[in-house]
Amino acid sequence: MELDEAISKRTSVRYFRDEPVSEETIWELTGVAIRAPTASGLENWPFVLFQSGEARRKVFDLIAEGMVEYYRAVDLPEEKIGKLRNRMYTEGMYRAPVYIAVFIDRRVRFLKGREFDEVEFIWSVESAAMAIENLMLKAVELGLGAVYIGVTNFRGIEEKVRGLAGLDENYYLVGLIPIGYPRWDVKPRKRRKGIEEVLRVL
Ligand SMILES: Cc1cc2nc3c(=O)[nH]c(=O)nc-3n(C[C@H](O)[C@H](O)[C@H](O)COP(=O)(O)O)c2cc1C
Repeated sequence: MELDEAISKRTSVRYFRDEPVSEETIWELTGVAIRAPTASGLENWPFVLFQSGEARRKVFDLIAEGMVEYYRAVDLPEEKIGKLRNRMYTEGMYRAPVYIAVFIDRRVRFLKGREFDEVEFIWSVESAAMAIENLMLKAVELGLGAVYIGVTNFRGIEEKVRGLAGLDENYYLVGLIPIGYPRWDVKPRKRRKGIEEVLRVL
């Protein structure tokens, strides 16, 4: 598949078939993820695969908890939130055969001074996000779907995901990615802004 096709076909997939993703496929996805650039070449990113039924259930519950917090934060009426909760718990939105969590190890850094704390953290997050995009594009090529989950970064939830992964507070979750074979075709979403709106030429 050409890069252009993978980029234009990629879209967030939130419903998956009940079909396993092979270990070989996980290796392929991780292989392209670690080809991403990393600030100062640090590669300080553990990738944690949640595959067992129990681990997946716990991760799913945390995603659902985060999504409900998000819906409340955007002031959705409780009735609508109930419907969305139903989509998750009854219809299986976000239930995937595997979840990949991408963390950074905050201790691994190049610039040591306190004045670089923030920029080092941002660089690590940016690097991990680039790995995630590589992985998501490769997923398209392999006929898989994925969605970037950010709500698991909410306070109280991020540390629970870290706990499930067996990692301590030296680590930080950048993104949690449910991956699987799409339950149905999802059309790529249109962009609200055109190039002329976002590009400034000086
Ligand atoms: C950093 C980040 C966090 C996101 N968090 C969530 C999330 O918590 N739940 C979710 O359903 N989608 C999440 N998304 C997916 C976006 O909603 C989606 O990318 C956006 O609406 C554009 O749609 P598209 O990916 O289909 O092009 C996240 C995307 C990014 C990049």
